[in-house]
Amino acid sequence: MPDYTTGYGQDGPQLGAGYNRPGDRPAMTRTVLKGINQQISAELSASYAYLAMSAWCESQNFTGSAKWLRIQSREEHTHAMKLFDFVLARGGTVELMAIEKPARTFKSIVEVFEAALKQEQEVGRQIDQLYELAFKEKVFAAMAELQWFITEQVEEEKSAREIVAKFRMLKDDPASLLDLDRELGARQPEAGAAA
Ligand SMILES: [Fe+2]
Ligand SMILES: [Fe+2]
Repeated sequence: MPDYTTGYGQDGPQLGAGYNRPGDRPAMTRTVLKGINQQISAELSASYAYLAMSAWCESQNFTGSAKWLRIQSREEHTHAMKLFDFVLARGGTVELMAIEKPARTFKSIVEVFEAALKQEQEVGRQIDQLYELAFKEKVFAAMAELQWFITEQVEEEKSAREIVAKFRMLKDDPASLLDLDRELGARQPEAGAAA
């Protein structure tokens, strides 16, 4: 039975004062709140990892890839903020967690995007699990919020997969690698995304 009446207790965030009084329609459950808080940190962690990838690419003179990854890092930050604002709008407590130190070096440019794809697939699984939890606990507002993330993940996994496929095709031909790097550098931040 989902617990609509309390926060996490002593070791985690509270749902908020006056939240979910007896008889209120459940707006959030503590397990869903915990899951969303974990997802905020997962998005920030993805943002951090992309930033490290961007720095490595820049140091290897893949400036187009570096730009693409920097834009992606910002996008992950906006994902985190979307959930951050959602928790606050529902009267819940935001609890930020520690972010792991990301990989700093890579063997090759293809390895960078393979790591990006793996990360996106992992985040996709986490979003699916969170959606399933919100469904089980009948937290409909969270389901609606997470729907956006499910659609976004399909796009992000697709673009990462396509870039990996392109780099794999080129192998080590320098001229083609530079062309692809230039192509990635043409990426522009999404309209409305925080720069
Ligand atoms: Fe994301
Ligand atoms: Fe992502």
